[in-house]
This record gives sequence, structure tokens and C-alpha cells, in this order.
Amino acid sequence: MLDKDTRLVVISNRVAVPKARGAAGAQGGLAGALNAALTQTGGLWFGWSGEEHPDPAVEPKVGVYDGVTMATIDLLPQDVEEYYNGYANSTLWPLFHYRIDLTAYERDFAMGYERVNERFAVSVAPLIKPDDVIWVHDYHLIPLGERLRERGFKNRMGFFLHIPWPPTRLFVSLPYHERLVRTMLSYDLVGFQCGEWLESFLHYCRKELGANVDEQTGRIDLDGQTTIARAYPIGIDYDHFMAQGVTGEARQTAQRVLSSTRRRTAMIGVDRLDYSKGLPERLDGIGRFFDRFPERVDDLVFIQIAPPSREDIGSYQQIRALLEQKTGQINGARSKIDIVPIRYVNQGHTTAQLFGCYHACKIGLVTPLRDGMNLVAKEYVAAQDPEDPGVLILSMFAGAAQQLDAALLVNPHSPDDIASNIRLALEMDRAERKERWEQLIVTVRDDNVQRWTENFTGDLATVGRLVGGG
Ligand code: F6P
Repeated sequence: MLDKDTRLVVISNRVAVPKARGAAGAQGGLAGALNAALTQTGGLWFGWSGEEHPDPAVEPKVGVYDGVTMATIDLLPQDVEEYYNGYANSTLWPLFHYRIDLTAYERDFAMGYERVNERFAVSVAPLIKPDDVIWVHDYHLIPLGERLRERGFKNRMGFFLHIPWPPTRLFVSLPYHERLVRTMLSYDLVGFQCGEWLESFLHYCRKELGANVDEQTGRIDLDGQTTIARAYPIGIDYDHFMAQGVTGEARQTAQRVLSSTRRRTAMIGVDRLDYSKGLPERLDGIGRFFDRFPERVDDLVFIQIAPPSREDIGSYQQIRALLEQKTGQINGARSKIDIVPIRYVNQGHTTAQLFGCYHACKIGLVTPLRDGMNLVAKEYVAAQDPEDPGVLILSMFAGAAQQLDAALLVNPHSPDDIASNIRLALEMDRAERKERWEQLIVTVRDDNVQRWTENFTGDLATVGRLVGGG
């Protein structure tokens, strides 16, 4: 935990300025988590406004909202193309999600990435005070710490990666991979969502950089510099989420789901429309379930909420088209005049509405092919009725599976495995559902976003002691 006089400076690609707050949409878990973290500690949040400008100002626009100072800059259209759509989301994102087949290795993208990280450093530097603790987030901004160190900043500096870290044999396909990882060692503390991503990172540092790595403590020594790397599983803002659950909006949404599904069991998926989320594979699993049990179309309805994301990128346009095709095929083959097995919804929903949907659905289907953590799985558990909870079906390849092992764990690539687990979930008796849920809820409630913030910032504040330096 940071002492109350220390200011936390959070830097991330996006900043959840109030107009975007509360609107779930396609914002993903990071914005909500950082919002909760900063509301807890106060401080400064710096990032991109999400806007393009032909001649963007270097000085950020600053506003104070609920004790949190938010400072944003606009970016040049070319920078958005090469940094955000390019290196961040067409190079690092697919590679880190093990999709080497979708990874673009374009030099212009790498240059745009360097340029925007430099621009972030130039714009945020005047806002940083000597005693601030700096916490940089996610793959968009890996080199930022080094850019700040070059400007003489000696502050405690931490970095957290919200997505997986790939195995070394995949990662080395990235040109200049060594340079990227060396910039990560400018931070005092580097955090990952789970042990698997941490292990891959430590393996890379030992094998490719020849660093001295202590697997037990996560201490990495290279060229006289020491960094600590650890796993800090992120959680949900449990109290805030539960408070949304007792609103009229949540209740009405639950009622809408229940009255429109009548005696059928509702099963839900909620994901940004992203190829890492395993959506076509999930539909194949559902298709397989109806192939095997065609009569069950009378008792099961699947609701997939999938707000579009990163729509300027070709691979995202392709996945959207594929989902429309697969949904159409299953609905065409299995619908009856009064029954449609899949409801496919491309709109974002508020947190209260999502709570209502989760609450009304007796199965939560969360099957990413790879995911840093996956907070939908945790929200689904939190929204259940303790006396009659639903069943969580969770991909074994989500970071969350390492904590939520009382869920039904599935291989998201296997339609048969998905189909079999849907059947198990539909037939699970209340006693087993309760037993599993009671295990899951302890993690979801206790390992919440506040604990994540305290653990990371607490370690960052005492990092000198962690490395044995007093
Ligand atoms: O957690 C991964 C992440 O890229 C976050 O950094 C981001 O807030 C979220 O997914 C949504 O992505 P985007 O900002 O590209 O819409």
C-alpha cells in the first residue's frame, strides 16, 4: 500500500474520462480497473484522449474528476494508424495472444510505436513530481519507462501487462525483441496477470538476454540493473459491481431476459468482438451441442453480447463477418417459428445491464483462446444468486482459470469439449452448483481490484527492500 502522501501517476493508452465511465461498451476491463484503483488512491491518470488531431498539442488537457486528475493528449492520424492500429494491435496484440498467423511485422508500425511512446514521455514529464510513484499499463507503452529514465526520472516506476506474455519461441519472431524487453527492465517492478505469463517472461530474460534470474523471487539482474517481476491477478471492483446489481436497471434487465426466454435456460457470453475471445470456436461448440441434442433447442438459448472493437483493423472486420455467418447458419438450421437458439447482440451495455444479464443466465460461457485474465468470468460469478447459482464454463487458457478452478474448465478449441460441458452445466444439480460457486465467490470477492492495486503499489513502494537494497 502506498502511504497517503505519495501520489500515484497512472499512465495507460486510454483514460476513462467521465463521459465514458459506467458505459461498458467495448472499453475492456483495464479502464474500469484503473478507475477503481485511482478512486482508491487519488492521483493523476495520463493517456490518449482517443481523438485524432492534425496538429495535436504537446500539453495535455487536464480535468479533475472525483479527486482524480485526468490528463489527455490527442494523436496525429498517422500515429493512431501506426501505433494503435499498427504496432499495438496488429503486432503485439496478436503475437502476445499466440496468433503469429495474424501478426504484422511492419517497420512503420514499430517506428510509430517508438514515436508515440516518446510523445507520451514529452507530454507527461512536466506533470511528474520527484516523489510520485509511476505505474505504466499495458503493451501500448512498454518503452515509456525507458523514455522517462532517459529524461532523468528516478521515481519508483512499475509496469503491468494486462495481456498474456507469449512463450519464448513465439516471442523471438518479433524483430528487435531484445530491445523491447530491455526497455521493460527500466522499471523497478513488472507485473503479470498469472504465473504462466510470468514464467514465460523470466524464461526469455534468462535464455535470450542472459540475465541472472531468480525464479523464486522474480528478481532479474542484467547489466547492473535490477527488476522484480511478479504475478498480480487482477480482480473486479466487487463492491461497485454489487451495488450496480441492486439498481432498477439491473433488475429490469434480468426481468427482460427471463420473460423473453420463458422456460428455456439462458446461457450468456460477453466479449469485445476480438479473435482472441474464441467466438467462432464457441459457436462451433454450440452448433455441436445442437447437432448432438437437437431436441434441446427447446430448452437452451444462447445470448452473445459482442460490442465491436478496433474496427479499422482487417482481422477484426473478418472475425465480425465470420460470426455473422456462423450465427446465421446455426439459427437458420435450428430455429423454429417461435424459437431462435442464438441472440447475437453487437451493442455495449452498462455495468448494471450486464449484471442483470449475468444474473438471469444459468450458464456463463467464457471461452477465450488466450486471455491475460478475463474479468467477465469473475463478474458472472459475482452476479449469481447464492441460493441458486449458475454454472461458469471457463477456458483453460484464460489467466482466470488459474484462480477459478472450481468452474467447468474447457478446451476452447474443441467443439466436443464445449458441447459436453454445456450438457454437464445444464444437468448439474443445485447442490453441486452451490458447492462450486461457494469456492469461486471467495476468490472473486476477496481478490478484488482494490487488493490488486494495494499489492502492486505496495510492492512498488518497497521495491528497494524487495531487491535486498534496504
Ligand atoms: O486489456 C487489454 C486492452 O487492450 C486494454 O488495454 C484496453 O483498455 C482494452 O483491451 C480495450 O481495447 P481498446 O482500448 O483497444 O479498445
